[in-house]
Amino acid sequence: MSSVLFVCLGNICRSPAGQGVMLSVIEQAGVSDKIQVDSAGTGAWHVGNLPDSRMRGAAEARGIILDSRARQAKASDFQNFDLIVAMDQSNYDNLKKLQGPKKSNAHLCLLGEFLDPQNPPDVPDPYYGDGSGFDQVLDMIEQACPKILQTLLEK
Ligand code: 4NP
Repeated sequence: MSSVLFVCLGNICRSPAGQGVMLSVIEQAGVSDKIQVDSAGTGAWHVGNLPDSRMRGAAEARGIILDSRARQAKASDFQNFDLIVAMDQSNYDNLKKLQGPKKSNAHLCLLGEFLDPQNPPDVPDPYYGDGSGFDQVLDMIEQACPKILQTLLEK
């Protein structure tokens, strides 16, 4: 069994989308029994909430239902997951602080590492934008997830 945790700031827009798209990619590949997927936020403001309705709508238009509940990332995630995928550099830096000096199982990376180089390195935070950001987030995540799956299956 391999496991991946997607992390953003609020765990209501980008990382639940990562979780939902990844679950769909895994299901289509027929490897649901081999990979576990979760998501979390570095912040705690939205703990317990469903994903933002705008992100749920954009995902549903692509056939993906987002029904996770927000939780905050914790130090033990570095023991319990194989791969932790941060949506942007600020999430990555906050996760590094949470990880601390203790040796961990998880490899921490940026989602941008799985994208073609013409993409921005960070998945932009769509929360305060004009609404078009949700599809851009999904486009980036849909591009990255098959490569993330390949990485997990090669472990
Ligand atoms: P996310 O987006 O990190 O992609 O879930 C955000 C959601 C909420 C807030 C910021 C970003 N917020 O400040 O409440």
